[in-house]
Amino acid sequence: MFRDKIELKDFEKMDPEYKDLLGRVLAIQADCEIGGPHLYVEDILPNAPTKVDQLVVARTAAEEVDHYRKIARIAGDFGVDVSYVLSRPNQDRYVEAFRGKITTWEDFAVFGLLIDRVGRYQLEEFIDCSYAPLDRILPDVLREEEGHLDFGTNKTAEMAAKGGESKERAQKAINYWYVKGIDMFGRSDSKRSERYRYWGLKRRSNTQARQEYIKEVNSLIEKMGLQVPDPNKDRLYF
Ligand SMILES: [Fe+2]
Ligand SMILES: [Fe+2]
Repeated sequence: MFRDKIELKDFEKMDPEYKDLLGRVLAIQADCEIGGPHLYVEDILPNAPTKVDQLVVARTAAEEVDHYRKIARIAGDFGVDVSYVLSRPNQDRYVEAFRGKITTWEDFAVFGLLIDRVGRYQLEEFIDCSYAPLDRILPDVLREEEGHLDFGTNKTAEMAAKGGESKERAQKAINYWYVKGIDMFGRSDSKRSERYRYWGLKRRSNTQARQEYIKEVNSLIEKMGLQVPDPNKDRLYF
């Protein structure tokens, strides 16, 4: 295991595998940060149910853009340009969950509950990581991410508590996003995931992070009186 702390000035002398993995994980992270606003701003911002909800949608999008900028700066400082993810079509995103479009309020809420939560798991991988400039941006980014997923969790819980059609819509959105969230953890036998860990760029294996996530979201879904979907239905990665 590699335990050094690397600063920008040390980057050039690093092993090519390290440089490659770090550039790669930052490009994916940047893509996920900007991918959210591209899913929901167009339809959800003008149609949010209340003024306060509208403000939260706008602020969430602004925070994601800022997360993108922070990640893009770190990559740009060592010469990796990730700006191609800014305006590319949703269908080209690295991660399947970002390839569609969010057109309903319940999908926006459940996206916060389930997918921003995966975002938190992804960021947590970098806590105390070997690349110090990345480690340093985490506290602010994680605090904002926590706000997104709390909002989504509260809104989904409110819809579920109302019962009837409102609860059914929340359930339908959960059925759609649940497996997409689980798939975001990648393949269980991923060789690359081992190399990230070897270089101190990730803390958990894909399997371990996925298991922790499933435990956390299942208990939230059950507490809301909703059904936990089949975790294996329509999965892309195992
Ligand atoms: Fe984010
Ligand atoms: Fe977020």
